[in-house]
Amino acid sequence: MNGYQWFIENIKRKTGIDLAQYKEAQMKRRLTSLYEKRGLKNFQEFFQAMEKDEALFHEFLDRMTINVSEFYRNAKRWEVLEKKILPKLFEQNRRLKIWSAACSTGEEPYTVAMILSKYIPLAHVSILATDIDENAIARAKIGLYTERSLQEIPEEMKKKFFKKEGMYYKIDEKIKRTVTFKKHNLLADPFGRQFDLIVCRNVLIYFTEEAKQQLYYKFNQALRPGGILFVGSTEQIFNPALYGFEIEDTFFYRKIK
Ligand SMILES: C[S@@+](CC[C@H](N)C(=O)[O-])C[C@H]1O[C@@H](n2cnc3c(N)ncnc32)[C@H](O)[C@@H]1O
Repeated sequence: MNGYQWFIENIKRKTGIDLAQYKEAQMKRRLTSLYEKRGLKNFQEFFQAMEKDEALFHEFLDRMTINVSEFYRNAKRWEVLEKKILPKLFEQNRRLKIWSAACSTGEEPYTVAMILSKYIPLAHVSILATDIDENAIARAKIGLYTERSLQEIPEEMKKKFFKKEGMYYKIDEKIKRTVTFKKHNLLADPFGRQFDLIVCRNVLIYFTEEAKQQLYYKFNQALRPGGILFVGSTEQIFNPALYGFEIEDTFFYRKIK
């Protein structure tokens, strides 16, 4: 067994996270640069050091998860959600069941809430948002953001839902209340059912082909018939019919069976 495989097995035992389902070259590169920076020589030394040093373990989690996010990421796609996808979903159902999977620090589910506020009172909005990373979730719940993550947000939304506090922008409580955050590992934990909309963006790219394919099936089962899966702008599904989807628009897939 090589050093990385040994590391993968030990991490799985310690955390339940299966690094074997993430693209190997990419993950190895990220982790190697971290342990080398800490003066460690190989994956075995890295794991042993983490066993003794909680801070290093958290650095490892941070490095493996990549929490980069922003409001209205790839703004054109959110426009499609607002103008084309949501009106159709609302025709079928006034109370939408929505899941933002791998939500990072909250920008994504909060974007969904802001867009929904154009259609229905916020008091009627309820979004489930999950991520494997508890630190990211804790930050999402605080709801303080830097200018950088607000670059793509429409001015009217920024004015309406954010208050400047020193260097940060604080998201409005009414938006915050619409989202329930939970820890959830896409590669290990069970999925809910009967969602109208699942938003899962910019995480599938980190997974192996096999892991991705399993996830497409699981997302399909988690949606109600006619429900929509919204993926990231580099994450096109090449053969959606294979997983029971048809293309609704670029990066939007409708469950057909
Ligand atoms: C680049 S961020 C994407 C955030 C947001 N969806 C967006 O598009 O802006 C990737 C997120 O996936 C999460 N993640 C990585 N592996 C995961 C897993 N197995 N289950 C759930 N979330 C995971 C990370 O913690 C990170 O917050």
